[in-house]
Amino acid sequence: MSLSLTNSFVKIPATKALSAFGNSIISKRNISRTVPNHFFFGKKPEKFEVKRVEIPNATWKKGTPQKIPSGKIISYEPKDIFNMIKFTKGTLLSATTLVSTVSADGVANTAPFAFCNCICPNPPIISITVHKKPDGSLKDTQVNIDATKEFGVSIVSDWFLESAISTNANLPPEEDEFEKIGITKMPSSVIKAPLPAQSAVSFECKVVSSTTFTDENGNETSVVYNGQVVKIHANEEFYNNKTGEFDYEKFNLIARVDGHYSKINNIINVDFVK
Ligand SMILES: Cc1cc2nc3c(=O)[nH]c(=O)nc-3n(C[C@H](O)[C@H](O)[C@H](O)COP(=O)(O)O)c2cc1C
Repeated sequence: MSLSLTNSFVKIPATKALSAFGNSIISKRNISRTVPNHFFFGKKPEKFEVKRVEIPNATWKKGTPQKIPSGKIISYEPKDIFNMIKFTKGTLLSATTLVSTVSADGVANTAPFAFCNCICPNPPIISITVHKKPDGSLKDTQVNIDATKEFGVSIVSDWFLESAISTNANLPPEEDEFEKIGITKMPSSVIKAPLPAQSAVSFECKVVSSTTFTDENGNETSVVYNGQVVKIHANEEFYNNKTGEFDYEKFNLIARVDGHYSKINNIINVDFVK
């Protein structure tokens, strides 16, 4: 079954827009901009309903090319893209996850990650990419993974979006982000790092390989860690392992879209492809 993203974006003056997790993202932008409409203070989020929708082009026949957008295609060298991180987030839509780690001294850490995906189902491998901080120093997540070779990945749903994203705070390594931000710890079974109890689904991973990337000057920019999934925790309210089905009406998944977020609130019926 395939998912599509809600298109609940509206144009509003930035001065009136405040995100639900403070103004850290929205206040950086000027005057008129596009934000998801559920991020306005004062506006109650509408009741979350997942719509089962029909395929968008029901009359399509195999062998017939579908719509090609009429706009002119402009080709860029990657270096000429205005902001490559922003561009990839806007096009290759990603989940919003919390990555948990623990330091060599046993201090728990968690941070939001969008560069995170399952890159192989067998064996199950989840990959996360940790970028260096703008000043070139290492994030606690990277220091901790290098020390322990382990990390946890937890899916973010809308009932704890604000606290999940607030773990983005740049706290010193000796401070426990779970405790400081208010994420409840749930013990892992195999790895040492705790997991957020708020999450409907968490994966415990052990690093099997990593790749370091450098920029054109040879400076290290990011490390991709591939972690083999060694344990999965799935709340039975959202996942039924007898049928393999997720209850998306309850799951309330959040995707990262450009600098914004989107609730996944409709599912396109693709039965016809069988
Ligand atoms: C939604 C969201 C997604 C993020 N995704 C990533 C990511 O994929 N990789 C990364 O290095 N930083 C990412 N960040 C930034 C880190 O969460 C941030 O640098 C954090 O402070 C790192 O914490 P740490 O020093 O405890 O590891 C993201 C931030 C947000 C809000």
